[in-house]
Amino acid sequence: TSLARFVDPLPVPPIARATGTRTHPRYPGRELPYYRIDMRAFKAKLHRDIPATPMWGYNGSFPGPTLEAKRDEPLLVEWVNALPDKHFLPIDHTIHGAEKDKPEVRVVTHVHGARVPADGDGYPEDWYAPGRSALYHYPNGQDAATLWYHDHAMGITRLNIYAGLAGAFIVRDDEEKALNLPAGDYDIPLMLCDRLVAQDGQLYYPVSDDPSAPWVMQCNGNLALCNGKIFPYFEVEPRRYRFRIVNIANFSFFDLSLSHDHVFQQIGTDQGLLAAPLQRDRVELYPAERADVVIDFSSLAGQSVQLRHQSQGILEFRVRSQSVRDTSVLPAALKAVPRIDVTSAAQRRVMTLNEIDDANGYAMTMLLDGKRWHEPISEKPLQNSIETWSFVNLSGDAHPIHLHLVRFQIIDRRPFDLFAWNSHRELKFTGPAVMPESHEAGWKDTVRADPGMVTRIAMRFEGEPGRYVWHCHFLEHEDNEMMRPYEVLPAHS
Ligand code: C2O
Ligand code: CU
Repeated sequence: TSLARFVDPLPVPPIARATGTRTHPRYPGRELPYYRIDMRAFKAKLHRDIPATPMWGYNGSFPGPTLEAKRDEPLLVEWVNALPDKHFLPIDHTIHGAEKDKPEVRVVTHVHGARVPADGDGYPEDWYAPGRSALYHYPNGQDAATLWYHDHAMGITRLNIYAGLAGAFIVRDDEEKALNLPAGDYDIPLMLCDRLVAQDGQLYYPVSDDPSAPWVMQCNGNLALCNGKIFPYFEVEPRRYRFRIVNIANFSFFDLSLSHDHVFQQIGTDQGLLAAPLQRDRVELYPAERADVVIDFSSLAGQSVQLRHQSQGILEFRVRSQSVRDTSVLPAALKAVPRIDVTSAAQRRVMTLNEIDDANGYAMTMLLDGKRWHEPISEKPLQNSIETWSFVNLSGDAHPIHLHLVRFQIIDRRPFDLFAWNSHRELKFTGPAVMPESHEAGWKDTVRADPGMVTRIAMRFEGEPGRYVWHCHFLEHEDNEMMRPYEVLPAHS
């Protein structure tokens, strides 16, 4: 595109402030910080030379305000639907959960990666219409990590997030604080996505050829956005910064590198710190994945360095020339990541990822284990038990698979014989297992399941019993049947 590059400063989303305290029946006798966050229509300036874009955002901004939590300190959020009654993006009413008898505008907020009781998890069918709100409580009983919140309403999640309903949710803890990583103004969330933006500023969402069924199986934009800006610049001091990079795109992946052969020190992944920093010249993120990185600008005083997606610069760091004192540390060891003992798994589930041709022949529907959303729940892990789940990818593409509630570890990926599976459901491996690379060896909540491979993960179902979901985080797939409920059953003592 011919848009001027690096003319707008990078916005840093404001930190959400509690508006007071409240009690909650789950926490008798305690006053908890209470946040009220409105979802509303607003206009966003995505770029200096593009007229303001109508969007929807939490507290009228995109990304929404950053929620900060401390480990084991619960907080309450009232998520208020103050949106208009009409959607501005193309709803497909033939999709399950988005039928014409439902209100057009529906929302429910999920904190991605949070260990939260089922009644506050943002179950896709717990949506509500404009004028209503939901009071959710977050116990935050989990390690420091970069989480994010986003809409999860059944059948229209892709449109609601595309409209702008997403923000960061950061959990901090004392153990991480003691490491003295770059903090405060030097600890910045970087929410990446892409959008189709027209010259007049309108957001476009792609549609199929069939106006009565506009759903498309993928959505790629023409422009990349960093914290809601196109080609921003960020003035930095010649010192270390921590960037919490989150891919909040519907479908696109990011393949990130720095100009000048500069490197990232990756310190964390989806669910918190890695065992040790890893020097990386490329960082790839599928939708919903996170990479926590430190970039050291101290050798670049007075220069500019670009963050690139593939070969295109999407953000320019302008390094000031005056030297500064940097008291932060990049420790050699960060946090132990004990491996889950897979031999103690109570269940080993094997599930397929499939694509089936639609009756009309032009679209495909993607399913989990050949099942649709409304079919009876088939995965019922016991609370606190360890399970392994193997995703047998029969489709032609990689899919980012996410489980609510839990953090997991990737065990391996292993090629298998598709023909043997299709003809008699035999799982026949055709090569050795590939261990996760070191940057994937931390705690994850979203995993890339490659085509032609069985991707195996292990997790312990810590948290409260109840109904949660697992799904593909390509939002187009998730909205159209590539999502299933699962239920954690209470452990009997
Ligand atoms: Cu990012 Cu089901 O969520
Ligand atoms: Cu998918």
